[in-house]
Amino acid sequence: MKSFAVLLAAVLAVASPIQKRDVGGVLICSGANATGTCEHNVYKIDSCNNITTPFNGSTLTFAPDGEAFFCYPYAMKCGGICTSPEGCTLGAVDFSYPHKFNMSEVSWSNIKSFSCHLKSSASV
Ligand SMILES: *[C@@H]1O[C@H](CO)[C@@H](O)[C@H](O)[C@H]1NC(C)=O
Ligand SMILES: *[C@@H]1O[C@H](CO)[C@@H](O)[C@H](O)[C@H]1NC(C)=O
Ligand SMILES: *[C@@H]1O[C@H](CO)[C@@H](O)[C@H](O)[C@H]1NC(C)=O
Ligand SMILES: *[C@@H]1O[C@H](CO)[C@@H](O)[C@H](O)[C@H]1NC(C)=O
Repeated sequence: MKSFAVLLAAVLAVASPIQKRDVGGVLICSGANATGTCEHNVYKIDSCNNITTPFNGSTLTFAPDGEAFFCYPYAMKCGGICTSPEGCTLGAVDFSYPHKFNMSEVSWSNIKSFSCHLKSSASV
């Protein structure tokens, strides 16, 4: 019994630093300045996430948390085909992005999907 407790404590000690960082957290709101309907979730790094219904095509706040990662917002759903000659992503948006609390300033208030990546990894 005692050895099990010691083992469990060791496992928890190893696991907790990973959980604490929660890299990939993004606040998305239908209104500017984190107003309207908001959702904060931690998204898997390097995977595509569709923006889903509560936002009704309105993602005025798109604010990644402060860890070392950034997100690419896309104008089409995950797996969609980009038909715009200018490309279909706004580019990297991170914690310091100046328009994250009012994406309509850059005409990106209708994000369809996004993917987040670690800043240390090679760009995708
Ligand atoms: C949003 O924040 C900006 C900067 O703080 C402020 O100028 C603006 O009035 C705010 N708008 C709303 C609707 O809260
Ligand atoms: C989205 O649309 C539904 C149905 O029209 C409405 O009930 C809901 O309040 C809307 N949500 C937002 C964030 O505007
Ligand atoms: C995103 O939405 C598209 C179109 O509805 C769908 O084909 C795709 O499987 C979805 N992908 C994810 C990761 O939810
Ligand atoms: C967001 O930006 C748009 C376009 O610049 C502007 O019309 C709107 O008033 C801004 N909203 C807020 C809440 O600051």
